Amino acid sequence: MTSTSRIAIVTGAARGIGAAIATRLATDGLAVAVIDLDAASCEATVSGITAAGGRAVAVGADVSDEAAVSAAVAEVADRLGPPTVLVNNAGVIRDNLLFKMSLSDWETVMGVHLRGSFLMTRAVQAHMTEARFGRVVNLSSTSALGNRGQVNYSAAKAGLQGFTKTLALELGRFGVTANAIAPGFIETEMTAATAERMRVPFEEFKAGAAAQIPVGRVGQPADIAHTASFLVSEGAGFISGQVIYVAGGPTC
Ligand SMILES: NC(=O)c1ccc[n+]([C@@H]2O[C@H](COP(=O)([O-])OP(=O)(O)OC[C@H]3O[C@@H](n4cnc5c(N)ncnc54)[C@H](O)[C@@H]3O)[C@@H](O)[C@H]2O)c1
Repeated sequence: MTSTSRIAIVTGAARGIGAAIATRLATDGLAVAVIDLDAASCEATVSGITAAGGRAVAVGADVSDEAAVSAAVAEVADRLGPPTVLVNNAGVIRDNLLFKMSLSDWETVMGVHLRGSFLMTRAVQAHMTEARFGRVVNLSSTSALGNRGQVNYSAAKAGLQGFTKTLALELGRFGVTANAIAPGFIETEMTAATAERMRVPFEEFKAGAAAQIPVGRVGQPADIAHTASFLVSEGAGFISGQVIYVAGGPTC
């Protein structure tokens, strides 16, 4: 089987990093299911892919909702074929210092990142093990190493690294690899929202971040899409259980 017949699911792909990954995988020859909270929000990503000659469908689902996830994966299998590539990218931030963080902000972040990745992967793995091929890529973050104001998000992103390593152990024998990408600062609506919350103009916020990054710039969604493209490729079958920091420099 060649990559031209692979079916990929990218969650949270209406915009930002997910949209860039979906678009890149379509350019690589995969058919792509673009999943986000509602199908209408996925249209820009889908029409960009189809206008360039690729194959994509928009599917609405909240990844933290068990019934919505199983319906979405069934819909993808029905409309495109069995998915064997899964990128768990959907994400939210609800930043606050620990003493001010509400339980609901804790649970929302855990729900999207951890519960969502668990539900999606559990639903898709049946197609992967049957095909004896699969690629799971989970979006972690440099925040997994600790980040002030993000006790919920850093815990979820660190949790995704353990989740990834265990997937690699359990699914390797079926030809399925699992890896995590841990981005540093990437220019998206998520980082723009952080700048707004901190009342710093986004340009200034980006310049401040770039000054701390060895390559002297902030990341772009395409930087992460490039890494995802590599990890889901046929040739990456001996790379599993790894966390690749994509942050313009080393992390500690
Ligand atoms: N931007 C960064 O600097 C950065 C750094 C490290 C990690 N990340 C991670 O990369 C991923 C993408 O981030 P981004 O910057 O593109 O964010 P973004 O906010 O621009 O996009 C996130 C997308 O996820 C979707 N989403 C949110 N909750 C969902 C749910 N329950 N079900 C389905 N879709 C849902 C949103 O609607 C949105 O389209 C996230 O997991 C994020 O935590 C981002």
